Amino acid sequence: MNSTPRPSFDAKRMLVFDDIQQASHHVADEIIQLVGAKPSAVLGLATGSTPIAVYEELIRRYRAGDVDFSKITTFNLDEYVGLSPEHPQSFAAFMRTHLFDAIDVPDHHTHIPAGVANDFLSTAELFEKKIQTSGGIDWQLLGIGDNGHIGFNEPGSPGESGTRLVELADETIEANSRFFDSPDDVPRQAITMGIATILKAKRLVLMAFGAAKAQAIADAVAGPVTPDCPASFLQRHPNATFIVDRAAAAALPTEA
Ligand code: F6R
Repeated sequence: MNSTPRPSFDAKRMLVFDDIQQASHHVADEIIQLVGAKPSAVLGLATGSTPIAVYEELIRRYRAGDVDFSKITTFNLDEYVGLSPEHPQSFAAFMRTHLFDAIDVPDHHTHIPAGVANDFLSTAELFEKKIQTSGGIDWQLLGIGDNGHIGFNEPGSPGESGTRLVELADETIEANSRFFDSPDDVPRQAITMGIATILKAKRLVLMAFGAAKAQAIADAVAGPVTPDCPASFLQRHPNATFIVDRAAAAALPTEA
């Protein structure tokens, strides 16, 4: 496994908040400022528990008239293979429920990798092409798996990877089984933006909350850049910020 020497931990990349609400308001403010300055901004979005409070705040601010999402374009990180957009556990359904149905983004401006396709290779290529023709992602939101994954780039994912079909790690299936009736119902594969796809975004914001994420955050921020911890590739990005609560910051080296 190729890895580079341990860089010094860059505290400027970390913002530690007392609670999820404060952190989420900070992130929502950043998005609203961007969309105010560039109404046609291209946003990269994530699913899972972590961004829900950001989406709630975006909806609140949209209803208050603070922001207009009618010209934005969005690209989501990933989708489960085998789940159609109508499936209640699909990430497409998640995005409609938690954000899209409550704001004025037109449906045809939103892009989520297709979980059902005859040919995932060309589906993935098309997704990459759409990102390029949109002008590239201005601002990408990320969560992190307990195992350091970003999108569904599990440990072992190469830094050069593009959008592709992947196998989910056992720990990811286990962690995400909370959204399904049983672990057996969790799809074993997903289609995900690759690490190289993610790193092309002009700005990256990775959010993590809770003690279960502490080791992954320490590895991502202060460990070597290595496929063993896919989020560590963010160290190579010139404009990436980790936004965490105190519990998720707890394993960071204190001397740094
Ligand atoms: C979701 C995604 C995943 C999640 C990660 C954390 O689109 O790409 O990488 O961000 O699994 O999930 P939560 O937020 O549920 O802890």
